[in-house]
Amino acid sequence: MCGIVGYIGSDNIKEILLDGLKELEYRGYDSAGIAILEEDEINSFKAVGKLKNLVDKTASFSTNAQGMGIGHTRWATHGKPTELNAHPHLGEFSYVVHNGIIENYQELKKELQSEGVNFLSQTDTEVIVHLFEKYYHTLQDPKKAFVETVKRLKGAYAILLITKVDKDRIFFAKNGSPMIVGNDENGDIYFGSSDAALIGKAKEVIYLDDGDYGWSSLGNIEIYNDGTKKELNKKPLIGDKVSAQKGGFRFFMEKEIYEQSEVLSDTIMGRVLDEEIKFEELDKSFFEGIERIQFCACGTSYNSALACAYLFERDAKIPTSVEIASEFRYKDPLLQKDTLFIVISQSGETADTLEALKMARDAGLKTLSICNVDNSSIVRIADRTLLTRAGIEKGVASTKAFATQVMVLWMLSLYLADIKGTMSREEIKGEIEVIRHIPKTVVVEDRLHEKIKRLSKRYLHGHGFFYIGRDIFYPLALEGALKLKEISYLHAEGYPAGEMKHGPIALADSELFTIALMPKSLHYDKVKSNVEELSARDATILAISPEEFELADDFIKTKHADHPMSEFFEMMVITQLLALEVSIRLGNDVDMPRNLAKSVTVE
Ligand code: G6P
Repeated sequence: MCGIVGYIGSDNIKEILLDGLKELEYRGYDSAGIAILEEDEINSFKAVGKLKNLVDKTASFSTNAQGMGIGHTRWATHGKPTELNAHPHLGEFSYVVHNGIIENYQELKKELQSEGVNFLSQTDTEVIVHLFEKYYHTLQDPKKAFVETVKRLKGAYAILLITKVDKDRIFFAKNGSPMIVGNDENGDIYFGSSDAALIGKAKEVIYLDDGDYGWSSLGNIEIYNDGTKKELNKKPLIGDKVSAQKGGFRFFMEKEIYEQSEVLSDTIMGRVLDEEIKFEELDKSFFEGIERIQFCACGTSYNSALACAYLFERDAKIPTSVEIASEFRYKDPLLQKDTLFIVISQSGETADTLEALKMARDAGLKTLSICNVDNSSIVRIADRTLLTRAGIEKGVASTKAFATQVMVLWMLSLYLADIKGTMSREEIKGEIEVIRHIPKTVVVEDRLHEKIKRLSKRYLHGHGFFYIGRDIFYPLALEGALKLKEISYLHAEGYPAGEMKHGPIALADSELFTIALMPKSLHYDKVKSNVEELSARDATILAISPEEFELADDFIKTKHADHPMSEFFEMMVITQLLALEVSIRLGNDVDMPRNLAKSVTVE
């Protein structure tokens, strides 16, 4: 997702900012920009695409004096990746960069527009700089104006602001999006949305807490929270760049599992309102004449489609089918015009999915892509796109991309249910409540991770794993098994729990490991009896459930038992951690498993 850097000092400001942005490239972005305040001037540069474009644009610009600057890499959320939408955003005399989403930006924008403010971009961020200048005009004090501005913002943000009316300071605020401030031995100040941007520059750093705001000048950092000045909790900054990118985790996959809470917040932000789901990218007319849905995808993306097809039929009462893209392409599919063709892809470049999309487009179907990478081939071809906002995913075994795909599809099923009137507003409100809690549901607790670490040592051999579940937990079983086989190289299958007795149960013995997904809120008794059948044949059972299960050899107790999707997301994390820990114990390269590629652009 987006990245932020900032600097106050007399070294080469431009180079320091560009360097910092380079270190944040790994997070993914589609445009970038910097603004530098030196003497009485603010110079700002923006470019779409790779950082190289920004470097080229700034080639003839140099900085030599004491000054300050802010920089940003943007991953489009509100508005397309254009230069106008790239940060920094400017007002009359100030510039701002921002990560996160200002949830109430529309309300603030209307208010400012009614007071005569002109907006240049489609972003939520731009309200921040105009609000600041509005308060500055009345209060004539930049610090007070900044405090008033921050008070008005709802949502998630990490903000840096510079202004000509205070040439000594960078103003900052943090809530829900990471922000770090640090200094070197000369008192030069550095900001970054992640350690990686500060390594080799700052000597000690402060990790800002939610609700922190303040200002910093050369050699000085002031942090406030709720009106009270805070002690500066400085920590030495050590580590090399790759481990900084990994944020202290052993593998990117592990980091990405832990990031799921944050990225799911990004996914839902601005899209779940009090009583309805809203997508800026869609309008209701897009669904006119649509009588059925066809999902098409590969790998993990296919599993997310499979899970959510249950929701589309149940919630929106719309017939939904799911096809693996490589199968779809060669089956001479019957393509009917009343079908909405939805492709799901993390990368937006998977060859089979892309070709299937082209077939649907050529047959005149409406197309929608659920994708993580804006401007990818799939996004460019589909009529409409819902971005999943997972940020860049490095681990080949997909985790956070899956989580965000499921979330977007779940929200879309509710959006459709609303249009079609198949769910009442009250029911949708209930679902929205659950959605809002999902980011908390996927937070990895130390106790859980430790337990899975210990337990994994018993699952390093055997002649196979069966992940079993019913309903949406069957695709989750498929995904759990896929994770394990991808990175442990052990044979694993996902199976519908009720189908085991029609064949696979013949394999059951103590060396057959069954990972049983036993949610309380959906067909508990049915799954339980399926697992009992396996236990009676001496299969080794690892049960994952909120309900104690006495026949289990191993048991992981879950916390949520009230809603299938809460249980789904909680169990998803457990299956991901299990695969991770088994793979680590086997000494495998978790992030780059043998024979696999992150993006498969060939048939
Ligand atoms: C590759 C990756 C999988 C991914 C699949 C589909 O096989 O290794 O993790 O699920 O491609 O990729 P997509 O980018 O279209 O979601």
